[in-house]
Amino acid sequence: MNSPVMQGLTLNTPAYVKHARLIAWVADMAALCKPDHIVWCDGSDAEYDRLCQQLVDAGTFKRLNPAKRANSYLACSDPSDVARVEDRTFICSERPEDAGPTNNWKAPAEMRATLQPLFDGCMRGRTMYVVPFSMGPLGSPIAHIGVELSDSAYVAVNMKLMTRMGKAVFDVLGTDGDFVPCVHTVGAPLQAGETDKTPWPCNPTLKYIVHYPETREIWSYGSGYGGNALLGKKCFALRIASNMGRDQGWLAEHMLILGVTNPEGKKYHVAAAFPSACGKTNFAMLIPPKGFEGWQVTTIGDDIAWIKPGADGRLYAINPEAGYFGVAPGTNTATNPNCMASLTRDVIFTNVALTDDGDVWWEGMGEAPAHAIDWQGKDWTPQIGKETGAKAAHPNARFTVAATNNPALDAAWDDPRGVAIDAFIFGGRRSTTVPLVTEARNWTEGVYMAATMGSETTAAAFGAQGVVRRDPFAMLPFTGYNMSDYFQHWLNLGSKLQGTGAKLPGIFCVNWFRKDENGKFVWPGFGENMRVLKWMIDRIENKGQGVEHAFGTSPRYEDIHWSGLDFSREQYATVTAIDKAAWVQELQLHAELFQQLAYHLPRELQETKARIEQRLAA
Ligand code: OXD
Ligand code: MN
Repeated sequence: MNSPVMQGLTLNTPAYVKHARLIAWVADMAALCKPDHIVWCDGSDAEYDRLCQQLVDAGTFKRLNPAKRANSYLACSDPSDVARVEDRTFICSERPEDAGPTNNWKAPAEMRATLQPLFDGCMRGRTMYVVPFSMGPLGSPIAHIGVELSDSAYVAVNMKLMTRMGKAVFDVLGTDGDFVPCVHTVGAPLQAGETDKTPWPCNPTLKYIVHYPETREIWSYGSGYGGNALLGKKCFALRIASNMGRDQGWLAEHMLILGVTNPEGKKYHVAAAFPSACGKTNFAMLIPPKGFEGWQVTTIGDDIAWIKPGADGRLYAINPEAGYFGVAPGTNTATNPNCMASLTRDVIFTNVALTDDGDVWWEGMGEAPAHAIDWQGKDWTPQIGKETGAKAAHPNARFTVAATNNPALDAAWDDPRGVAIDAFIFGGRRSTTVPLVTEARNWTEGVYMAATMGSETTAAAFGAQGVVRRDPFAMLPFTGYNMSDYFQHWLNLGSKLQGTGAKLPGIFCVNWFRKDENGKFVWPGFGENMRVLKWMIDRIENKGQGVEHAFGTSPRYEDIHWSGLDFSREQYATVTAIDKAAWVQELQLHAELFQQLAYHLPRELQETKARIEQRLAA
């Protein structure tokens, strides 16, 4: 392929790129963004090492002590750029009702007019990295491809860990394959001869995370952090992919995927949706506790699932990602040993604290160091922490690590066919009201449960913390179209699968987070969640007992396998009791949600609500 030259800038297209439309798009974007250089990423280890060294030289990365964390780095962001910015995230469909009331909407033409001057020259003084990536195993019928253009080397190296990134993607794309174009800039162009004054260039005052669902484009301006900048993750794999899934008859979900193998060697697959920072990575890497000898839990994914119906009427899931971008604070060897084992080498840490011996530390990791440099570069000691409340690590501090570091990685994690899903789990963080586990009576009631899910907010998104917000399917910030149409899509898929005669996955609702009157968590959680998983598997096998109540079936104390855990009937009652008055109030909140989502709200959900109310009143 030839390399067009624009105002002294060479496109540098490698000979192995044979996709004329893609090359033309890169040329157009280069003409708009005006970078000083263009680098096509090949995804090699040598390239990763070179870019990491460049980030060290620029002061963005600190190389950690190799004796403590081999081949690992720490980046600390600008304090204004620490989380996803939901209020700056836009779904720009032609019609506002197609974005729906849960998304920020702007007309595409208006948004394009706003972004045009911002992107014009936005990469001056910088390099534009062309980052080709496959979401899902290369060539899998469930996978899709994206290309991200970014002026951030931090993004390029994170994408190498988080996706199947590099040269091989072009073999799949060929001369005319489909790809989702993703353009990202930190929004901080440099004047001629100017160098960065800060190790984390970004635009501290202006950010736009923009999706055009009809044309399947992503444009991100002003942030270098996580889901705002690693566009394969939330922007593509959820917001754009949910649109693709609706149009093409599949699901793009905010779900971990795990495998459970029982002592007889029978394997099950479960996909579970929890809002951000509710311990998804912990659940995906669960180690069966005492009393579960011979059981094995393996990780397929920790955050996102793409699920397509197979010819046999079952649902097959892949993890579109190839790495974990997990919340560090709270992670430790007691709560998630597999995760800690994943983090011993080849990790990029962001916004954790740096210890004096060149290692990392975060709140909840274990004993605090006597002194550290906090995520904002200031001296930190436990005393300072106590006196000022200053955190050593930002509460949304992250690790980026390849899935292959995970000792519990499932053998089928990279299988292009995906794994057949036996159960869906939906769980929020609720200190009251919602019991430990409930199985929906049928698909529609399961969709109702998922649609009305609520959760107390956390630090993964910018904004208030600790208030209950409705988070349907844990997809509130991620459904890239009208939420009611999304509910309808789930209902339609259920009907379609039912028509094949295949057994539909069971749908369960869980809550690990009920608190007692002293504000303490009652359920031990973590590995002990295995007990709940086992009950679900018993139900799938039609062996599990339970008691039916207003909104489904829950296990009685005697239906749970307790061997190895001292958990009394009274404690169990605290996490399972159904408080009628609280549920009347809860249903009032469902009504408010349904009012907000009235446009296109599926009739079946209103009917399900009415049935639950009747049962509750009975
Ligand atoms: C995430 C999130 O980073 O959900 O996974 O915010
Ligand atoms: Mn997530």
